Amino acid sequence: MSSAAPTESADRAASAAAVPTAASAAAGVSGRAGSPPPGTASTLVPDPFAGPPVGEVRTFHPRRGRLSPQQQNAIDRMWDAYGIGVDGTPVDFAALFGNPSPVVLEIGFGMGEATARMAAADPGTNILATDIHTPGIGNLLHLVETNRLANVRIAEGDAVRLLTEMVAPESLAGIRVYFPDPWPKSKHHKRRLIRPGFTALAASRLAPGGTLHCATDWAPYAAWMLEVLDAEPTLRNTAGHGYAPRPDWRPMTRFERQGLAKGHEVADLVFRRA
Ligand SMILES: C[S@@+](CC[C@H](N)C(=O)[O-])C[C@H]1O[C@@H](n2cnc3c(N)ncnc32)[C@H](O)[C@@H]1O
Repeated sequence: MSSAAPTESADRAASAAAVPTAASAAAGVSGRAGSPPPGTASTLVPDPFAGPPVGEVRTFHPRRGRLSPQQQNAIDRMWDAYGIGVDGTPVDFAALFGNPSPVVLEIGFGMGEATARMAAADPGTNILATDIHTPGIGNLLHLVETNRLANVRIAEGDAVRLLTEMVAPESLAGIRVYFPDPWPKSKHHKRRLIRPGFTALAASRLAPGGTLHCATDWAPYAAWMLEVLDAEPTLRNTAGHGYAPRPDWRPMTRFERQGLAKGHEVADLVFRRA
């Protein structure tokens, strides 16, 4: 996976003209506990509280990707030791990682470069990285080997199912969602990962004090995320209100670099489980 799928790129281009900046979006969006009364809805984002229950629609493109020989080789040799399928079996983190260190779930790691850098910089934290994109899985396994990372494991499959069926309540120190697919067309908003049902699920899997950290370069999605996260009663915005300063330790991701090259602003959102 080296870039957004063509349909996604076209969607982004089509709606770019209507995009407010992250700052202006933040100024115009406030937290709320439910759908607003008629006539008071935000003009910046459609109602994120509408739509099908989380898990009923896919948040990802089914994409084909050719595996390089290096990626295939890494999967062949390393999958059994470092990978799990998203098959509904509850995960025992201490057994999976071989130690009782805190576990952070990264959803949608892409090609895994940022994952590998975070793992190398913080060996005392275990990272369970999940995605559905096979070349990225092969790439991250290769990075695990070349960087001798003992604190990364990979779950292949849908993060929603992983959280729902396999991750115990209050068991995660953090959840990281960096540059999730923005699904810019209104008719696709139901596919956005950050939706009320998802944030309630994610918050329930965080230990008290654990953080849900999202980042995006797509200003309308940033405003939407802020509205959805503000409305989750068990989460508190670490920034007080609005977007958080970018943490020093968050590495630049591949999609972030692409967004910055297009002149997009990046917003970080860091919410803590009460
Ligand atoms: C736009 S890419 C961002 C990749 C990377 N975080 C980055 O910033 O470069 C979004 C990634 O999320 C993955 N993804 C989307 N929905 C997912 C889900 N429900 N479970 C696991 N991965 C998902 C996609 O396969 C894709 O690799």
